Amino acid sequence: MKNKIYNEDCQDTMLLRGLKFDYVFTSPPYNLGGDFHTFSKGKRVTHGDYDGFSDNLPEHEYQKQQISVLNQLYEGLSDDGVCFYNHKIRIKKRSIIHPLEWINKSKFNVYQIITIDFGSTPNVDKSRFFPVSELMFILTKKREPLIFNEKCFTDIVKIKKGGRKRGHPATFSENMVETFLSSVKGKGIVYDPYIGTGTTAVVCKKLGFDYLGSEYSKNTFEIAQERVNGTLF
Ligand SMILES: C[S@@+](CC[C@H](N)C(=O)[O-])C[C@H]1O[C@@H](n2cnc3c(N)ncnc32)[C@H](O)[C@@H]1O
Repeated sequence: MKNKIYNEDCQDTMLLRGLKFDYVFTSPPYNLGGDFHTFSKGKRVTHGDYDGFSDNLPEHEYQKQQISVLNQLYEGLSDDGVCFYNHKIRIKKRSIIHPLEWINKSKFNVYQIITIDFGSTPNVDKSRFFPVSELMFILTKKREPLIFNEKCFTDIVKIKKGGRKRGHPATFSENMVETFLSSVKGKGIVYDPYIGTGTTAVVCKKLGFDYLGSEYSKNTFEIAQERVNGTLF
């Protein structure tokens, strides 16, 4: 099965559809309750939720869910495959939560951590240094994964932030997917369990990869379909 996006929970896709893939490229919801940590004139501003869910689980449940998703991804990934898992250091209740807290409880080996420099942020809360970075966890099964850093990137990469697609709050820029997929050996199937508006699939088509995706929200799934078919205006 390839070049298909499923309008369903990714855990069901992985449980029921027997997917096999060579790469994962994804960014899960960050469990920030639709609050994108934006400040304007000193006041916190909320930019709205994802369509259809509040992204606001108790933190321990969120982490348990992410471990379970990562372990399912591990089972579907080829032995020399690479999982690009984008997340960030979140600030909750005046402390940080680092993604390694749960990634290290999954079956994956953490091969490398790349810092993504987005260069700017709407969060200009002066009680902290302004957070302009996110992280890309390169997760593998074996010690020799399909990575070839042909473009000689360092472990800090500058990436353009994505714009909103029809109100979707967390769209990747195509540049983000292109940068990381240009650092793997050979083509294959890329699975994005949280494909949102379909950026991963759009870039896969452009670069000659096959894709698979899951998206829970019907509205967002339809945007992804239109983007992949080239009919979104
Ligand atoms: C961070 S966004 C991904 C955005 C995507 N990278 C893009 O470029 O549009 C996460 C997406 O995952 C979807 N989602 C949340 N929980 C899901 C689940 N259990 N299974 C599938 N999709 C889910 C949300 O509706 C949201 O569109």
